[in-house]
Amino acid sequence: MPRLPFITFEGSEGSGKSTQADRLAARLQRCGIPCILTREPGGTLIGESIRELLQFAPHNKNMTPETELLLFEASRSQLVREVITPALERGVCVIADRFSDSTTVYQGAARKLDREMIESLNAFAVGDCIPDVTFALDVDAATAELRMRREPRKADRMEQQPADFYERVREGYRELAAGEAKRFVMIDASGDVEEIEKQIWETLCSRFPVLAKVSNP
Ligand code: TMP
Repeated sequence: MPRLPFITFEGSEGSGKSTQADRLAARLQRCGIPCILTREPGGTLIGESIRELLQFAPHNKNMTPETELLLFEASRSQLVREVITPALERGVCVIADRFSDSTTVYQGAARKLDREMIESLNAFAVGDCIPDVTFALDVDAATAELRMRREPRKADRMEQQPADFYERVREGYRELAAGEAKRFVMIDASGDVEEIEKQIWETLCSRFPVLAKVSNP
């Protein structure tokens, strides 16, 4: 059987990307297609400790943007080598809830750290582990905020940025997707969850006939 794809989900908080990543993983499991779902930062014991430090640790308030960037890359380099590459080599489909595009957009477009530096750190962290397809879920700030309010939980450090930060995030994804039109699929995420799920599944089946074949034997 051909190698199963490495699929990533990107988008701002409240875009619904985690919901769609979960739904896709559940669908693949129902179809008997081996798959794993990862998240970033996190996804390994080391990565989950880094997530805690980045998001919730009481002493993280004065973390510098440079430290933040390196911690995201550290979490990713562990995840790639410990989980993602071995899974793809075993013939398992990998679905990632965020990957290196998050760094390009959040630390690059939104935090305004040097773009070339970010690209070289991303390349160092991922090596030759490049997503086959990336779904970028696009939603306006008001809809995203509404969705986040519906989901009562403690806001983490990354969710306490001013409104223009999230505008730069949205614009950053749009620019990135326009520059890499072959890998990126922009999804209007303002609509119905089931419709979006269907659109994602149809795109995957047309790009990776192996998925359509295995799910409809
Ligand atoms: P989330 O995955 O639950 O949305 O939370 C992850 C947070 O971390 C989110 O605010 C985006 C941010 N983030 C970055 O700023 N850079 C990165 O490279 C990654 C993976 C996440």
